[in-house]
Amino acid sequence: MKFIRSGIIVALLCCCPVALAAPAAFKIDAVHSQIFFSASHDGYTNPTGRLRVKDGTFRFDGDDWSTAQVDATIDIPSLDMGDAPWSSKLLSGYFDATVYPTARFVSTRVEKTGERSGVIHGNLTLLGRTKPVDLKVTFNRAAFNGYTLHYVAGFSATAAFKRSSFGMDRETKTVGDDVSVHMEIEGVRSGDAQAQPDTAPKAVAMLRSGNEQWGSLAKFFHWTIVLLIIVQGTIGLIMVDLPKSPRVIPYFSFHKSLGLTILALALWRLSWRAIDLRPAEPAGMPPWQVSAARIGHALLYVLLFAVPLTGWWFDSVSALRPLYWFGLFEVPHLTGPDTSLKDLAAAMHQALFWLLVLVATGHAAVALIHQFVTRDNVLGRMWPASLQRKPTSPLLPETADDASPSPAAPAGANVADIAARDRT
Ligand code: HEM
Ligand code: HEM
Repeated sequence: MKFIRSGIIVALLCCCPVALAAPAAFKIDAVHSQIFFSASHDGYTNPTGRLRVKDGTFRFDGDDWSTAQVDATIDIPSLDMGDAPWSSKLLSGYFDATVYPTARFVSTRVEKTGERSGVIHGNLTLLGRTKPVDLKVTFNRAAFNGYTLHYVAGFSATAAFKRSSFGMDRETKTVGDDVSVHMEIEGVRSGDAQAQPDTAPKAVAMLRSGNEQWGSLAKFFHWTIVLLIIVQGTIGLIMVDLPKSPRVIPYFSFHKSLGLTILALALWRLSWRAIDLRPAEPAGMPPWQVSAARIGHALLYVLLFAVPLTGWWFDSVSALRPLYWFGLFEVPHLTGPDTSLKDLAAAMHQALFWLLVLVATGHAAVALIHQFVTRDNVLGRMWPASLQRKPTSPLLPETADDASPSPAAPAGANVADIAARDRT
């Protein structure tokens, strides 16, 4: 069963995040990407202006540059010469921005010329005319950004062309015809890396989340933790009401061991999340709902750590006996004994548990509303594939994990759409 298989290889995967990091498809980050162009001002200076990338994607595999591709759209009205009247003069007089609000570069072939350098051959469409333009590119870095927790690749590139070849032939005597371009391009790996079965082993691709589905490892963590918390909470509530006698010790020991297991699973879940992708919010979801979901999930993560940690803290300050994990090995106490903190720790453990119950109930209710009222498949994409009903079910997609989008799948199609299309 995929669900169980995922669990067995948790440890292996946590040890080799770098192996999973092979980049494939990237979305250009318009904020951290800059395009500078410059042309001579009658020989006095070489003024420089800036344009922004409107939208774009690239594919890049450091081991095989020949598979690289770029498609970027440039936002012409974003042109900035650092002086508003000058910018508008260029926009109307040179770029005819109202008629041609965008320019586009599409690569045709990428050639590696050095360890980190290459040439991107492609076509630039400017003022409605398409001409070949080559970009000399330097690959700077591809790595996980510890701040955004995204896999990012960055390049610097230069290009040169004659503006008159695109029909931009105004004042070529005083304003240079030769335009040089310098750009800094950063891309964030996007979910459609998942859609390339050849770039990663199938088993790995299945474990990872994509744009439309949580991967089986994220699902394994989510539902295993949910199940264990239900068992753990029930044991906790029962054991504290049992009459005090040595006979209750095994219940407490089991509760502590299971609690530590949940804590370890939460830690692995969060580590995996740092390198995994995350499905996009359903299209059309209002921003306040997106923020509410993020805050709710963050709170659940905090509680997933706070509840077991306060239990561990309570056990430490009580220091009744050594703490063992299922009798197999000793787990150190968090602090030395301090009976004055016992009541506080117990109260916090109990209060945080009930807060977790409250937030998780709200969270589950929202998930159900998404599934049955909004019908945007939010629960379906988190549901274990092996528990999903077969085609007749209107509730959940057919086989979420197996239905990783095939290359021809339209962007944004959900798994149910793809499964339905593949059946016909
Ligand atoms: C997610 C993990 C955990 C959950 C959901 C959980 C839940 C609970 C609950 C519901 C109670 C009963 C509270 C009450 O009504 O007084 C309880 C008590 C207790 N828990 Fe946990 N617990 C977790 C982890 C831990 C851990 C990791 C430890 C220790 C290593 C621990 C140690 C204890 C102890 C010693 C009590 C008894 C407190 C008392 O005597 O007042 N728990 N837990
Ligand atoms: C103890 C109970 C639960 C905890 C601690 C919990 C925790 C979480 C967390 C932390 C996330 C965010 C995942 C991430 O962004 O990495 C999440 C997602 C999710 N949970 Fe839960 N959950 C619980 C119970 C449930 C239940 C009972 C349901 C369904 C009835 C549910 C449905 C979902 C769904 C559908 C998502 C994915 C949301 C999305 O795709 O944006 N959860 N859960």
